[in-house]
Parts: sequence; structure tokens; C-alpha cells
Amino acid sequence: MKKKILVTGGTGYIGSHTAVELIEDGSEVIIIDNLTNSEAGVATRIGQITGTTPELAVLDICDREKLSEFFHDHPGISGIIHFAAYKAVGESVRKPLEYYRNNIQTTVNLLEGMKTFRIPGFVFSSSCTVYGQPARLPVSEDSPLQPAASPYGNTKRICEEIIRDTIAADPNLRGISLRYFNPIGAHPSALIGELPRGVPENLVPFITQTAFGLRDELKVFGNDYDTPDGSCIRDYLHVVDLAKAHVTAINRLVEGRNKSGYETFNLGTGTGVSVLEAISSFERATGLKLKYRITDRRPGDIEKIWADPSLANRELGWKTNISLDESMRTAWEWEKFIRKSN
Ligand code: NAD
Ligand code: WQD
Repeated sequence: MKKKILVTGGTGYIGSHTAVELIEDGSEVIIIDNLTNSEAGVATRIGQITGTTPELAVLDICDREKLSEFFHDHPGISGIIHFAAYKAVGESVRKPLEYYRNNIQTTVNLLEGMKTFRIPGFVFSSSCTVYGQPARLPVSEDSPLQPAASPYGNTKRICEEIIRDTIAADPNLRGISLRYFNPIGAHPSALIGELPRGVPENLVPFITQTAFGLRDELKVFGNDYDTPDGSCIRDYLHVVDLAKAHVTAINRLVEGRNKSGYETFNLGTGTGVSVLEAISSFERATGLKLKYRITDRRPGDIEKIWADPSLANRELGWKTNISLDESMRTAWEWEKFIRKSN
């Protein structure tokens, strides 16, 4: 029988790519999204890629009653992958309560739903932001967590703790938190990808928008860091690689292959890339010249971080396969697709 997997935030960037991989793995996917940061048409485009359009329930997961009705109407769900959240770091500093309410309440409501409706598996979208600036690199899962630099980051840390405590109290529940490093790129079909609203905060959407002419130039935030070329270092992984990790994680839980009730995994390539190297990769992959300028550091930026993904390699049998250049190429194809369709 097909596994029935609930994907919250499934019309969003990472959720939509994960829905594609789940369907291609043979699961039935049901999406809940309130479309605050995505469009209903994404479900149709998932259908164009896979041949199966997932059911989309448009509702706010903060609404406990509506969520409960949803679970009543959809028996037999064996796992939840919880992507739905607000994710803009800068906005979270300006609107902390909106972030705490949305990101924490959605998680609590879903965990309650799991208990009530006997859904065993829960996969949570966490972030490398929980590590702050680690003392040792690459960063492994047992590195000490640092006080969060933003309300957004704090919601990830708090949610991880809520999930851990909930699972510790109930032997029927199993969960995995996946700590993503920097997801970039888009599906090779260029039918789904990241849809930043307004001016992007993240590097790669800013690069593609600049190349398209929507922005005058990319500002490189600092070249005086203690790194080989002076710009900050991150671990950029392709969103399709990231999506595949969710398939292995939810299958591990649903099939009861987890080693303990609650597990955490880093998801990254294991390689650090500087901002200037990322720009070179974009130029190489697309043949375009990017207009950029070195400016002051961005307040609160981490100097350098990259993952030790060996636990995920070993336990999930997962590793990244898609190169940085290919990631940049797909990001660019996606940028052109959205501009054409808008
Ligand atoms: P996204 O904004 O593209 O997708 C999130 C989706 O959740 C959106 O479609 C939005 O409409 C929906 N949503 C938000 N609140 C909701 C609610 N209350 N009820 C129903 N739907 C709701 O974001 P993304 O980049 O795909 O990120 C997915 C998850 O991964 C988030 O939890 C994010 O914090 C986490 N994450 C993202 C990154 C990244 O760089 N993109 C890195 C680390 C972690
Ligand atoms: C990458 C690098 C910038 C824009 C964010 C979130 C974090 C987590 C991961 C979700 C940095 C530089 C950027 C620009 C630049 N997300 N940059 N010019 O900093 O790793 O963090 O994504 O959980 O919580 O904060 O990613 O894409 O913002 O920046 O020079 O216009 O690019 O300084 O070195 P970051 P990012």
C-alpha cells in the first residue's frame, strides 16, 4: 500500500521539491499550505513534473480546529514533513511575535494532531542557524548549540526542543530534525523553485535577480573575514539533493528503522564555498558576467560554516550529488522561467 505523507508548506520552495521526490518514490502526497509565501499553481506544476497532482488543502496550521477537521477527513497518514514556517531572518527581528506564533504554534498543533490521530513519523525543517558560529569546523550534530542570533533562528531551536520532549514522553512517536545548510537551485524542469517576495535576503536569488537586471548590483557583504579570499563561507546544497534526504528520513521513521525516537541530521555537502567563489561559479555556469561590489559586513553574519554530513551519509544513506555549478545553472533557469511567466 502507498504511504500517505502530509507535507506542510508543500507549495513552498523546499516542500514542492520534496513533494516531487516523494511522489517519484511512490508515496501519496497531501499538501497543507495557507499560500502566504507560495501559489496554488505549484501543486499543478508538481503534477506536470510527476504525472500526479497532489491534493492541496489551503488552511492555516495555526487554526487547531481546521487542522483537526483536516486530520478527521484524511485518515491513514503515516508521516508528516513539516516545512510550513516563516523564514525571513530580518523580518523576524522586526516582527518577533508573528514568527514565534506561526513557527511554534504550527509545530505544536501538528504534534498534537500526531498524538490524537496516531501518526507515527514527524520530520522537521531545522537549520544550521542553531549552531551560530561553531568553534570547530566542519560542524557535526553534537556541536554545542548557540543562543540564536534572530527570533527566526530561535524558533528553530525551540521547535527542536518541543519535538524532542514530545517524543520522549510518548513511545509511539518518532521524529527527525534535519538541519539544512544553504539550499539553492531549482528543479531541472525549471517548473518549481524559490519565489522570494520583495528584495531577497539570500545570496543566490539576489545573484539571479541581479543577472536578470532586476537589481543594479550584488553587494558582497565584506571581504575582510578570516577566510582565504576574505568573504564569508557557507555550505550550499542543491534543493533536489535536500528534498531526497526528506524521502529517506520519512521512510526511516515510517518503516521504524530509526535508532532512537528522536534524531537530528546535518544536511550539507561538507564543502565550504565563499561568496566570491559562489559568484565565480554562477558566472562559469551561465556564461554571464555579474555586477558586484564589496561593501561593509552584514551585521550578525556568521564568518564561516560548513557541515560534517557524515552522520546523514551513514545513517540515511544520503549524500549530495549535484555540483555547485549545476545548482547555479538551475537557479538561473528558474529565474528566467518566473520572469517569463509574470
Ligand atoms: P517557503 O516560504 O518557500 O515555504 C514555506 C511554506 O509554508 C510557504 O508555502 C507558506 O505559504 C507556508 N506556510 C507558512 N506558514 C503557514 C501556516 N501557518 N499554515 C500553512 N502554511 C504555512 O520556505 P522554504 O524555503 O521552502 O522553507 C521551508 C522550511 O525550511 C521552513 O521551515 C524554513 O524555516 C526551513 N529552512 C529553510 C532554509 C532556506 O534557506 N530556504 C534553510 C533552513 C531551513
Ligand atoms: C549567504 C552569504 C552573506 C546576500 C540564511 C539564514 C539562516 C539559514 C540559512 C534558514 C553570506 C552573503 C548574501 C547578499 C552577500 N536559513 N551575501 N550579499 O547567511 O547563511 O543565512 O540562510 O534557516 O537562518 O540567515 O545565507 O543567503 O543570506 O547569505 O554577500 O546580497 O552570502 O553575507 O555570507 P546565510 P544568505
